[in-house]
Amino acid sequence: MRKSSVAVILHAVAISLVLFIGSGNSARADGKSGESLFKEHCSLCHPDGGNIVNPKKTLHKKDLEANNIKSKDDIVRIMRKPGPGMTTFNENTVPEKSAKEIAGYILKTFK
Ligand code: HEC
Repeated sequence: MRKSSVAVILHAVAISLVLFIGSGNSARADGKSGESLFKEHCSLCHPDGGNIVNPKKTLHKKDLEANNIKSKDDIVRIMRKPGPGMTTFNENTVPEKSAKEIAGYILKTFK
């Protein structure tokens, strides 16, 4: 890897760290946070909790409730068995604990 790309990556990490701390979450040394997991796996199609594939099914509270999604378990269930157009996330791609972290992040972030 060239030095410049390392610098770019370090820069991106520094920025997300600042945003992360700024958002009031406590950073954890032991695993990834719901936020970083969300960015890694979900934000491609759900940027800012939206839905670029099906704009009627965003991750905002109003849409979730309209579709009877109320708890972390409901969200984890969708990750394991999603509707049309969404990637399936199984135990290998997103283990249970991480899935719950992501679900918790969604519920508290997108109102
Ligand atoms: C490839 C694009 C894509 C990715 C990646 C993706 N989703 Fe989705 N998601 C969709 C689509 C499309 C739907 C609507 C499916 C349907 O019609 O039921 C959806 C629906 C949902 C819903 C239901 C929303 C509602 O209002 O009914 C939840 C919750 C959800 N996704 C969570 C996630 C989580 C958590 C991740 C990451 C682990 C993720 N999605 C990654 C495309 C994606």
